[in-house]
Amino acid sequence: MSEQVYAAITAWGFSVPEKVLTNHDLERMVETSDEWIRTRTGIGERHVVSEGEFTSTLALAAARKALAQANLPAAELDLIIVCTATPDYPFPATACIVQEQLGATRATAFDLEAACSGFVYGLNVATQFIKTGAMKNILVIGAETLSRFVNWKDRTTCVLFADGAGAVLLQPSHEQSGILSFYSASSGEGAELIIERAGGSRYPANQPMPPQHDCYIHMAGQEVFKQAVRVMGDDSMEAIARAGLHPSQIDLFIPHQANVRIIEAMAKKFELPMAKFFVNIEYYGNTSAASIPIALCEAVEQGKLKPGALVCMAAFGAGITHGALVIRWNPGPFGEL
Ligand code: ACO
Repeated sequence: MSEQVYAAITAWGFSVPEKVLTNHDLERMVETSDEWIRTRTGIGERHVVSEGEFTSTLALAAARKALAQANLPAAELDLIIVCTATPDYPFPATACIVQEQLGATRATAFDLEAACSGFVYGLNVATQFIKTGAMKNILVIGAETLSRFVNWKDRTTCVLFADGAGAVLLQPSHEQSGILSFYSASSGEGAELIIERAGGSRYPANQPMPPQHDCYIHMAGQEVFKQAVRVMGDDSMEAIARAGLHPSQIDLFIPHQANVRIIEAMAKKFELPMAKFFVNIEYYGNTSAASIPIALCEAVEQGKLKPGALVCMAAFGAGITHGALVIRWNPGPFGEL
């Protein structure tokens, strides 16, 4: 026990749409093959929304699971951050829709847009509110419906992206828990590398509709791949050093699930076995800001995170945004401060 206040992750939950799209389904839609997708990305299948499902419905389902686990009434929440690049609307924030549906009457709610790095950024932002004593109960949700922005005729992107949501509850604790160190950066000069051009102020509402291709996700895959390999390794190294640790002391890496080859390159860089890296991309594809919280939930379910474990999370996404953090997995029960 110390006098220092930590922001512990005390509850968690995730939700993915029921509908599954396999690589074989995609073989019937574009010129691709299960073999190409598996060997180049590690993806076997992904979940995609159906009519009536949105980013907010996935976020809400994940949030409800986390609150039920913590047995915390929604009215006790101080803050809801929804990390997403695919909100229900440009405004209002998806977080406000979730707040209303949850009945989190006291909570402030806002969205955080950092693409695939959203959850890592969001966890850091929420931690600051708890460390300063300003807030006690914060939900951080990573939620995406990328399938709504994918060109289903473009094989270079449609095989990669998918939908889902993961939520964690942060609460104060005197036990060493939650984020121990953080490193992040952004490089706007890479803005064109991953971009969805429509939906913002560049297309005034009184002008003709944007061309269809500007409504889709565009990605310079190879360049993104190279940068992701470099920065996810470097950022993790920096965050681990800032925690006063050596990579060999990390019990589990939970990297953003964009491509298994990026994760394998990280393992090589650290000279660590792949068993130290949590990978579930085979079943979910790239769910952007949702990928790390979904992976975290599954790692716990599979017994891969014991109390006291040291975890390194690293992400990279459109912007370019990137960052890594080290957490002590020490889930509580807390909320007593
Ligand atoms: N099926 C079959 N062939 C394909 C497919 C497909 N689905 N997609 C591309 N190809 C072809 C290409 O057309 C190319 O053919 P060519 O040689 O005849 O021109 C060939 O396969 C090789 O293409 P590359 O682009 O070189 O393939 P690469 O091995 O680089 O894999 C991929 C592409 C999977 C996109 C990879 O570059 C990647 O994972 N990039 C990183 C993505 C990422 O990390 N994103 C994170 C951020 S996302 C966000 O923020 C929302």
